[in-house]
Amino acid sequence: MTLQARNISVKLGRRRVLAGVDFSASAGRVTAIVGPNGSGKTTLLRSITGEVAHQGEVRLNGADVANLQPWQLAAIRAVQPQSSSIAFPFNVLEIVRLGLSAGLSAADSSVPMKALQAVGLNRFAGRMYQGLSGGEQQRVQLARVITQVWEPVVDGIPRWLILDEPVASLDIGHQFTVMDLARDYAARGGGVVAVMHDLNLTAMFADYVVLMETGQIATTGSPAEVLTDETLARTYGCAVPVNTTPPAQIPFLLPQARVNMTRHSA
Ligand SMILES: Nc1ncnc2c1ncn2[C@@H]1O[C@H](COP(=O)(O)OP(=O)(O)OP(=O)(O)O)[C@@H](O)[C@H]1O
Ligand SMILES: [Mg+2]
Repeated sequence: MTLQARNISVKLGRRRVLAGVDFSASAGRVTAIVGPNGSGKTTLLRSITGEVAHQGEVRLNGADVANLQPWQLAAIRAVQPQSSSIAFPFNVLEIVRLGLSAGLSAADSSVPMKALQAVGLNRFAGRMYQGLSGGEQQRVQLARVITQVWEPVVDGIPRWLILDEPVASLDIGHQFTVMDLARDYAARGGGVVAVMHDLNLTAMFADYVVLMETGQIATTGSPAEVLTDETLARTYGCAVPVNTTPPAQIPFLLPQARVNMTRHSA
């Protein structure tokens, strides 16, 4: 089962933000979308989820999403936006429970607490959302999203987590919590598509990487295929020498500072 976007083009105002993008992700894998600021990653996700008007076709598990009702989509995919603001004074559990009402009506009411546990926030259930730190709020949002599609496969049909920078505000320990959660979801048959900026985490956790550049896909493949010195230097405009960790040969990057090194020896 796949998530496929064909020939996606988006204009925002007078700007062409995506130009003929073909994108594909498979259930059972973690697919990372990487690329510089403004390259179109969020716009691609928002096209896939139907939040932005686009040309081209998106198929989820074989069905054209244009033919699915919002409740049908909500039952098979959950979306964590790049940023979420909550205007009302909800507590943490109330926000996570919103995921329950968006997903399958027969969902298990114990799921929100399990989801909070999965992101390390089970003791935060009664806290007010506005009183949390940025990283805590981000984890609450992820708990809401995984509540919506808690079981990765229902009646043999995979469900999808679509995450826009899920670890952007998180400390390194919670980055691992969230990426482990994504891997586990994929290992149990679900699909995961995540926009990422941390290329080392991407190399460690993604099965498949889509590198975007100025509204197009620059290259796709395994982390080792995509994350190369040449490709990263060309795309990001800075030197990022890539090595590999034995024995798994996972790429790792050591960014080279562009600052004057004498600063450090002063
Ligand atoms: N409403 C809008 N009107 C006009 N241009 C927009 C609008 N929203 C986004 N853009 C432009 O579209 C391009 C792609 O934006 P997008 O948010 O998809 O980038 P991104 O790859 O997610 O970047 P980041 O890493 O900063 O999140 C950017 O150049 C941005 O300035
Ligand atoms: Mg973005």
